[in-house]
Amino acid sequence: MLMNRVETALVNSPPRRWLQRYETRLLVELGGRTPGAQVAEIGCGPGYGTRLILDRFGAARVDAVDLDPAMITRAQRRLRRHAGRARLAQGSATDLRSAFRSFDGGQDASYDAVFDFAIIHHIPNWRDALAEIARVLTPGGRFYFDEVTATALARPSYRLLLDHPTEDRFTAGEFLAELPRHGLVVGERWRTRIGGDYLLGVATRDTD
Ligand SMILES: C[S@@+](CC[C@H](N)C(=O)[O-])C[C@H]1O[C@@H](n2cnc3c(N)ncnc32)[C@H](O)[C@@H]1O
Repeated sequence: MLMNRVETALVNSPPRRWLQRYETRLLVELGGRTPGAQVAEIGCGPGYGTRLILDRFGAARVDAVDLDPAMITRAQRRLRRHAGRARLAQGSATDLRSAFRSFDGGQDASYDAVFDFAIIHHIPNWRDALAEIARVLTPGGRFYFDEVTATALARPSYRLLLDHPTEDRFTAGEFLAELPRHGLVVGERWRTRIGGDYLLGVATRDTD
């Protein structure tokens, strides 16, 4: 689901970039860096997270997708100096093969890591996104997530100012419980923030 104008402005703002640097530090603490990795990023927005994955996590290349073509245009601008290492595409996180078809990305077991910076709560069929992430991860590959839970989405600030799917949202516990159903093992590598409003963690794709 696309963001409304208020959320688009927030996502493009300096406070969001500050917060994303904080989230990056926490994700590195929980799951380590990804030097030399082939990475997919879902819901890249304006591409600041893509840059952090390249510069702070040390990934070799990021294939990034966003549903909103305007966000892809912004991300392309932000990443022009990383051009050879970032491939950007408009499409849905629930079908990465279609989204990345122009460069033959999104194949089974083809990424060492997948990053989700605050996007899965925008997807009505969010479990399908987890299944898709598990499909494209190599065995032992890592899923880094930073999510907004039903607890946050129920707050007046979220309900009045922002647009999100209203049915079947997840609490932190529900998101964590869904991961192993897709072969994603998280153990103790997760944290909540602000009374369960936000959930950050790193899960590993099991080896079947
Ligand atoms: C809250 S923004 C997060 C943007 C960026 N990752 C960040 O952390 O600042 C959510 C993004 O997810 C995108 N989005 C929503 N549904 C999507 C889907 N099904 N597939 C890919 N991107 C989606 C939106 O267009 C938006 O750019």
